[in-house]
Amino acid sequence: MEALRLEELNATNVVAANSLTLKPGQEQFVAPVSNSIAEAYVNQNTAWPRVVYSEGELVGFIMANFDEDSTREEFKAIILRMNVAAEAQGRGVGRFAVEQIAAEGRARGSEFLYAMWEPGEDGPDAFFRHLGFEVIEDNEFGEAVGRLALRD
Ligand SMILES: CC(C)(COP(=O)(O)OP(=O)(O)OC[C@H]1O[C@@H](n2cnc3c(N)ncnc32)[C@H](O)[C@@H]1OP(=O)(O)O)[C@@H](O)C(=O)NCCC(=O)NCCS
Repeated sequence: MEALRLEELNATNVVAANSLTLKPGQEQFVAPVSNSIAEAYVNQNTAWPRVVYSEGELVGFIMANFDEDSTREEFKAIILRMNVAAEAQGRGVGRFAVEQIAAEGRARGSEFLYAMWEPGEDGPDAFFRHLGFEVIEDNEFGEAVGRLALRD
């Protein structure tokens, strides 16, 4: 297992994060990193944007949302975006990112971690299910809403 490291999105890594490139056809399943960065900027109290480094190279951008006051249960602890660089996919970066977000949720006392994703071939459906997310509903935008228990 290569050494992976999580870092807050900051002035030093923001350009590299914004330059991440997915595999052809995957763009339809996640918003561009630039959109996520803008959303993180205007939702600073709840957004949790982070980058993943592997051997000193930025290989992933993830954004969760933690809002214990949200009236919608899923927004209390949810994965909103995951972008792993095309050449780094399949090496455990996504699993590491989900584990880090789950650890943050546990530290905040969350019972569940949610995720929302676009269904479809080449999308992240099998990835989230493989990591233990159970699809509990399709939301008003046709996205799958998955849930992972954070406590035994
Ligand atoms: C989905 C995504 C984040 C996964 O990241 P990744 O780094 O390639 O995933 P990992 O290598 O950590 O895989 C973790 C596990 O899931 C499994 N997995 C990953 N993708 C899978 C797929 N499409 N089907 C089945 N299993 C899959 C892996 O085999 C691995 O299993 P293991 O740990 O038991 O060996 C990445 O492919 C990506 O950025 N996709 C494009 C954007 C996207 O769809 N983002 C999600 C929107 S929220």
